[in-house]
Amino acid sequence: MASHSSCDSLSSLDPELAALVRREHERQATTIDLIASENHVSHAVRTALATLLTDKYAEGYPGRRYYSGCGVVDQVETLAITRAKAVFGADHANVQPHAGSQANFAAYQALITPGATILGMDRSHGGHLTHGAEVNFSGKLFKVATYGVDRVTERIDYEQLRAMARQHRPALIVAGASSYPRIIDFAVFGDVAREVGALLMVDVAHIAGLIAGGVHPSPVPYADVVTGTTQKTLRGPRGGFILCKAQHASLIDSAVFPGSQGGPLMHVIAAKAVCFHEALQPAFRTYAAAIVSNARVMAEELAAEGLRVISGGTDNHLALVDLTPLDMTGKQAQDALERAGIIANRNSIPFDTRPPMVAGGLRVGTPAITTRGFSAEEVRTVATLVCRVLRAPTSETVRDDVHRSVLELCARHPLPGLD
Ligand SMILES: Cc1ncc(COP(=O)(O)O)c(C=O)c1O
Repeated sequence: MASHSSCDSLSSLDPELAALVRREHERQATTIDLIASENHVSHAVRTALATLLTDKYAEGYPGRRYYSGCGVVDQVETLAITRAKAVFGADHANVQPHAGSQANFAAYQALITPGATILGMDRSHGGHLTHGAEVNFSGKLFKVATYGVDRVTERIDYEQLRAMARQHRPALIVAGASSYPRIIDFAVFGDVAREVGALLMVDVAHIAGLIAGGVHPSPVPYADVVTGTTQKTLRGPRGGFILCKAQHASLIDSAVFPGSQGGPLMHVIAAKAVCFHEALQPAFRTYAAAIVSNARVMAEELAAEGLRVISGGTDNHLALVDLTPLDMTGKQAQDALERAGIIANRNSIPFDTRPPMVAGGLRVGTPAITTRGFSAEEVRTVATLVCRVLRAPTSETVRDDVHRSVLELCARHPLPGLD
């Protein structure tokens, strides 16, 4: 296995931790990652994360910090902001949110007050916890109305969205999802929001890289605020960002700091700057297009093997499989696949009757295997391996057979970014 330089230096200082990092390296190198929200960052991103920028306290914003000594980190943050604005064509960018959930918290704080009504996508139809789930701050602080997908097409029911908006008159409509396989029509969301006098927030956490790479329409022209994460399809460090129209800029900035966070993670902001730079390169468009074409191949092959793919396919980086015809839960599928070296997650499907921890579906995504360089043919092979396991989840012969194929595929595609 390739050596991991930051781990090499850890070995003598903290062998216990270094051994764990090595084990995780080994796990990633020898398994196929189909988790739609995961990816493998470049060497440059990982290098930026491991810099001494982590040492600096920089509460505030470039040119307006509380502590001295911020001249250099001001330039780092300004670089990240400039690049984020260039990637998405936005008026304003805030790159400080520690994660996607914190970006959403700050956006809500900037735009609405506790007790206001938000209209977000039902979680079992693809929405995220922070879009109004009872167990999340969003469900506790706000009144929540939800929209979802049509029972037949399994695509967002835009008529229902409009009807719910007219009925509930939300202060804020939230578009965006964690497990929705189709293009989202942000123009319709903008139109509905305008009609009922609501603000529109679009959470592009999952599809930020697809938007940056030009393979999913951008919400920027339609949304008041766009929130996102850098760690998913955008292939950057774990973290959040917020884009907005100029008129919301100061409210957004003060909702992040001092409204909901303390000192920014300057090493992470540096790594975000690197990932935005990478997203501006022509090769990123090729990568984004390959994510989508690989997902399409995956969905087609799963369907050809007789599985029911939600909405009949995919337009983005993920496909959702309905496991109920196989009389299997998402949890059982996830566990059986892991035993064979394939990492995917159980997922609720629209109108699911099972609780989220059991779930009736499986989500499969192609960002990580695309980054690893899997060809369309290899993605097809992965889909057949998934099907073999799902058809015989308890067979040790199938498990061993599939595992051998997984190891062969992984050996052909070493983890990137570790040289
Ligand atoms: C749509 C959406 N928004 C927000 C988040 C939260 O991101 P984080 O895990 O960085 O808090 C996720 C995470 O999966 C997500 O899918």
